[in-house]
Amino acid sequence: MLRHQVMQLARRYLSDHGFLELETPMLTKSTPEGARDYLVPSRVHPGNFYALPQSPQLFKQLFMIAGFDRYFQITRCFRDEDLRADRQPEFTQIDCELSFVTRDQIMAIMETLIATLWRTVLGRDIALPIPRMSYADAMRDYGLDAPDLRYDLTLKDLTTLFKTSQFKVFRDAAQSGLVKALVVPGKADLSRGTIDAYTQYVSIFGAKGLAWIKILETEWQSPIVKFFSEDEKRALQDALHLTAGDIVFFGAGPAKVVNDSLGNLREKIAEDHGFLAGHEHDMRFVWITDFPLFSLEDGKVTAVHHPFTAPIPEDVPLLARDPSAVTSNAYDLVLNGNEIGGGSIRIHDPEVQRQVFSLLGITAQEAEAKFGFLLRGLEYGAPPHGGIAFGLDRLIMLMSGATSIRDVIAFPKTQKATCLMTEAPSAVDAEQLREVGIQLFKKA
Ligand code: AMO
Ligand code: AMP
Repeated sequence: MLRHQVMQLARRYLSDHGFLELETPMLTKSTPEGARDYLVPSRVHPGNFYALPQSPQLFKQLFMIAGFDRYFQITRCFRDEDLRADRQPEFTQIDCELSFVTRDQIMAIMETLIATLWRTVLGRDIALPIPRMSYADAMRDYGLDAPDLRYDLTLKDLTTLFKTSQFKVFRDAAQSGLVKALVVPGKADLSRGTIDAYTQYVSIFGAKGLAWIKILETEWQSPIVKFFSEDEKRALQDALHLTAGDIVFFGAGPAKVVNDSLGNLREKIAEDHGFLAGHEHDMRFVWITDFPLFSLEDGKVTAVHHPFTAPIPEDVPLLARDPSAVTSNAYDLVLNGNEIGGGSIRIHDPEVQRQVFSLLGITAQEAEAKFGFLLRGLEYGAPPHGGIAFGLDRLIMLMSGATSIRDVIAFPKTQKATCLMTEAPSAVDAEQLREVGIQLFKKA
């Protein structure tokens, strides 16, 4: 019933604001959103496949090029990725796109939509405008790009302090990566067992260890302070404002490992030790902005949002000189540590789009083969445009206080992507396979 109400309200709000509800194909060529595609074999064209859309991204851009200046759709998206409590293989987006707009105009229309939903459905007022935080600040203070702001624990960057440390692990990390600390007030009484469990927990994110200091009345208890000089201890005290009863955890290593480890540890500790107490029902909305356009993982350049996201205008010249320094014109809406929506201003100049494809390692021929229809569209003269998509399931989960989107989806899939009721996916007849020209082989 809540889902119904939210869908009707969203339709009404968007329609009243001049958005047309336009449908897009489900049998399509995939648009790369970073996940694996679900493929559908073609009977008429044996050996060829459709992909189910990961999102209607390119279709909605083509609507803008065609002259529809405000589009929305409440639509299914399909992504074959590892599932979690907030991820399903098929999920629903409230998907929007607008022409001749700035990022600020999009954010203003969309946060009013969110505020309207919360006020009408839950009777709760959201203070507008929703605050903004840059990606860099989010990573610095919280280690995650979707921070939960309901409690004040923050990470502190100590990289400069440890550049010349006696402690080799920290010195090496400070020279090539990061050293960061998480101070947990009043928890110096954590047991060795708990600390070991947290060490195990951060190893999931690649951490090689989890150094710690317990600040006691009389001493600092720790496996690492013996490596610190008196100056270093004083500098640490000044940087972290430690008081008796605190425990400090340290992450040292590559930036991604340190941020993932301490960022997730921060959320785990907050949950385990009551830092959320009294704030469970707070609603800390925040826009995260100024993401980098590209990320480099395992030597491969990928788009942080998607390949059609524009750089901020002043960074376009940087594409040629220093692509890794380019900031994107993208934004995510985060609520209590959950990414509930994401979007961007798009590239509307075919030359810039070609340049971005090339930086992503897509050759000119591949770009034509995969995205020729988009490039042609852009060449006809595309209006500046941008948009956003909200994860409807996540919105409903948060509005209803559920802890998994499975609780707010009818006939959801399990963590193993199966449907318990219909038992999909299932084997099909040999005849059906023959018709689509598919022969099965045993996976090695
Ligand atoms: P993005 O990939 O960020 O952007 O998706 C938008 C929102 O959809 C939700 N979401 C999911 N919900 C449930 N299960 C999933 N597997 C899942 N994946 C994503 C999230 C997310 O914020 N085309 C772009 C949008 C745009 O640029 O306009 C897109 O799909 O809440
Ligand atoms: P070691 O010298 O390997 O015995 O480590 C001493 C302490 O530092 C232990 O508490 C380890 O968990 C911790 N430690 C080792 N490597 C790291 C790292 N990369 N980041 C944070 N702590 C670490």
